[in-house]
Amino acid sequence: MSTHDSNAPESGTDVAVTGSGGFPEHFSDPGHPEHRLRQSDQDPKANKRAELQVVVLFLISIIGTIGFLVAYFTVTPAGTPSSIRNSNLLLGLGLFCALMGIGLAAVHWAKSLMNDHEKSEERHELRSPEPVRVQAVEVIKEGVADSAIGRRGVLKGAMISALALFPLSIAVPLIGNVGGNWDVSKFKHTMWKKGTRLTLDPTGRPVKASDVTIGSVFHIIPDGLDKTAHPLEEKAKAVVLLVRLDPRDLKIAPDREGWSYDGIIAYSKICTHVGCPVALYEQQTHHLLCPCHQSTFDVADGAKVVFGPAKRPLPQLPITVDSEGYLVAQSDFHEPVGPSFWERLK
Ligand code: FES
Repeated sequence: MSTHDSNAPESGTDVAVTGSGGFPEHFSDPGHPEHRLRQSDQDPKANKRAELQVVVLFLISIIGTIGFLVAYFTVTPAGTPSSIRNSNLLLGLGLFCALMGIGLAAVHWAKSLMNDHEKSEERHELRSPEPVRVQAVEVIKEGVADSAIGRRGVLKGAMISALALFPLSIAVPLIGNVGGNWDVSKFKHTMWKKGTRLTLDPTGRPVKASDVTIGSVFHIIPDGLDKTAHPLEEKAKAVVLLVRLDPRDLKIAPDREGWSYDGIIAYSKICTHVGCPVALYEQQTHHLLCPCHQSTFDVADGAKVVFGPAKRPLPQLPITVDSEGYLVAQSDFHEPVGPSFWERLK
């Protein structure tokens, strides 16, 4: 259906325009282009072909939903990055086919099978008068009748199957997680504890204070991470960025005296905005930038936010050295790491 403004002149008439600066005073209204019948309007075979195409698109959606469910139950992430990637890829492909099939089928159905009337409509106030609203309901009913859903049994069956199956791709994962571990208190702690050595990510080599020169930055994980039951989950919480500054540049808050060692300071690497890894360090300004939304933290001043959407500083890990000169944690973080939300705001 197409609409046009009834205030516009009829096709082919001339329109007066206030001319100035050499612009023409009249132009011809080009009118509506000639209505061209679609192939499916003229050829019953083309119409049948279009119907079949719509059925195939719904079938793609059905296969996508079934594929999603099969992937959900059979491709279980084993905790390694590659297995998580494969699982996500298959789930994403299934969901993509399920949604794309329904979307394309609906568009193709409307464009090639529903009646191709052209109608003119008067421009009106934003809120339609009551008779028009009643008329709109009639038009919707007409559209339903127009889709010939009653007559096209196979198409109707395919559509109902696709629409009925698709919600399973949302409901099954939700139901599958009922009874899962929803204890969110685990997000308030990490595996850092007194004496845990700071080791390099990903090699796991312990770091000595003498290895860290002024201006250098190290990506750190806790010693023993690979021996935990859920190394990826623990790593996601415990990753740390280690920086060494000239001790004279550090502004140490009174309650954090002794949390750093000779200018070496450790902060959670997880942005307090929405959790991206913060990793871009600018040595001159001591600023640490999150690449996702440009939150910027001042390493020299308690990792306070100097720019961007993050609402609180990066949590600091208290560190010291052990008897062999290796950097170790004094304790866990003193506050939850990661994104801030209302119940975490201090
Ligand atoms: S996640 Fe870091 S600024 Fe948004």
